[in-house]
Amino acid sequence: MGRIKDIRPLKWTGESLLLIDQRKLPLKEEWIECKDYESVAKAIEDMVVRGAPAIGVVAAYGVAIGAKQVMKESKNFIDFKAKIENVINRLASTRPTAVNLFWALKKMKKILEAGTNEKDIVAALETEAINIEKQDVETNKKIGYFGAELLGSKEVILTHCNTGALATAGYGTALGVIRAAVETGRDILVYVDETRPYLQGARLTAWELQQEDIPYYLITDNMAGYFMSRGEITCIIVGADRIASNGDTANKIGTYSLSVLAKEHGIPFYVAAPTSTFDLTLKSGKEIPIEERSPDEVLFCHCKDCRIAPYNAKVRNPAFDVTPHENITGIITEKGVINSPDEEKILEFFSK
Ligand code: MRU
Repeated sequence: MGRIKDIRPLKWTGESLLLIDQRKLPLKEEWIECKDYESVAKAIEDMVVRGAPAIGVVAAYGVAIGAKQVMKESKNFIDFKAKIENVINRLASTRPTAVNLFWALKKMKKILEAGTNEKDIVAALETEAINIEKQDVETNKKIGYFGAELLGSKEVILTHCNTGALATAGYGTALGVIRAAVETGRDILVYVDETRPYLQGARLTAWELQQEDIPYYLITDNMAGYFMSRGEITCIIVGADRIASNGDTANKIGTYSLSVLAKEHGIPFYVAAPTSTFDLTLKSGKEIPIEERSPDEVLFCHCKDCRIAPYNAKVRNPAFDVTPHENITGIITEKGVINSPDEEKILEFFSK
């Protein structure tokens, strides 16, 4: 596999959606083609594509593909609209935590509701999906800009999960800040948590950093505290799947523990996320639905051919946890940084 400089997890062909199969990375670069909305929904459920912004973009294309399918099958305009709503509901049922999925589907629903005929709706849905994809990359570059401004000329940054180009339409959020910091000439070393159980850090973040020659060390999750206690980490930057109106942030399981360790050691702890990751309908992180995934992700190593726990072992596998806003130094968005976020600051930020 050669080096990829401008990593993109998806390609729209005009008829179908190509997705890099993130389950196969970093060992193989394989693309799968989604020709119908059900295969898009399955790709999200099965983690072919993952990461909050990426699943939003992919779901939008799922609606665009579904609308083309539905146009061929529907009896009349009412039937056409009802069938697209079913497509939207199916895509909404794929993963519960990342709000970007529902944000993108809401945008697609608005287009559907505003349309007056089938042909125009199909065209407008495709245009909207393309816009959502384009905007995501622009948004991430702005997050990168604001994030890099917070950093000194030399930083050792710890990150968790994969928040890079693969988790978005391109460039990334927390990893986008790291990219931007390197692009602006800062001396950056990254500590990558492997991110048990699905190993997004080891498989995807390490791979992305390697594509761009950004220096990093891969560590197991339980080593993070050790390096913090020795003063070897100067900053932590993570992504987000959903941020409540008081700033409580759901992100990959293990993020909460990092935030507690960061507080203990006086290390700045930043969340980088687009404004589409905020869910202002929720008062606090307690209301964020946390996905619980298959026990197999814990019982087997990622490649599934090697069991690592006894038969009949009882497993819990929450995919996300919630970091209380008190543990967050700042939330970096495309519109600027919310320092020491709380309900008042977030509401003020969104009222501008
Ligand atoms: O289960 P995943 O891989 O979809 O979880 C991804 C994360 O938790 C990311 O940190 C988050 O979605 C932000 S991605 C820019």
